[in-house]
Amino acid sequence: MIYESTHPLVKHKLTLLRDVSTEPKKFRELIRELAMLLCYEATADLGIEETQVDTPMGKASGYVLTEKIGLIPILRAGLGMVDGIWEMMPGSEVWHIGLYRDEETLQPVSYYNKLPTSPTVQVCLVLDPMLATGGSAVAAVNILKDWGADRIKFVGILAAPEGVHTLQTAHPDVPIYIAQIDSHLNSIGYIVPGLGDAGDRQFGTG
Ligand code: PRP
Ligand code: URA
Repeated sequence: MIYESTHPLVKHKLTLLRDVSTEPKKFRELIRELAMLLCYEATADLGIEETQVDTPMGKASGYVLTEKIGLIPILRAGLGMVDGIWEMMPGSEVWHIGLYRDEETLQPVSYYNKLPTSPTVQVCLVLDPMLATGGSAVAAVNILKDWGADRIKFVGILAAPEGVHTLQTAHPDVPIYIAQIDSHLNSIGYIVPGLGDAGDRQFGTG
């Protein structure tokens, strides 16, 4: 399943995010806001159960979330997607996965993973703004499945068709939520037209 946003707010913010003149502070704000908007869609099927609440006027029936959510940012660029989502779901756990793309081979290299021996959450949201070749997303989902996670969703901002295909082929059970699917990858694995390097633009390291 692939969800590509049609929401006007997402389109507007994504355009600002792409803009080469957008500075790191504004870029981080936009990543945070886009992550929250996409998370709204990605969490539409979370489990709830009925409860009762006392209002100043009496009793009302309502609902509480029943599932433990794990937010799994892929370092570094996924970090900027955590805070806004975490504010909306403060009971979530955050588990970082460190992966970088080898510049020559474009293969993901794992450098950080402190997951405990067995899963502590029922739903995992993998957070990474860029789905380029798809190698990093596939590697992150492999790590989570080896951990024992069985409900995994990928939440990103921009994708190349190549990355969508690779992730869907390797993990057809993992739905993808994305602001937009772009045209293609260039010869060095960057999304075109894309937004450049999402990690460098957030952290001012470009
Ligand atoms: C970027 C991005 C993804 C990955 C996507 O990370 O944040 O994790 O590339 O590319 P792929 O789909 O081809 O694997 P990068 O390796 O640049 O690391 P960084 O976030 O630390 O800058
Ligand atoms: N990683 C990025 O940050 N940007 C791309 O276009 C591809 C991978």
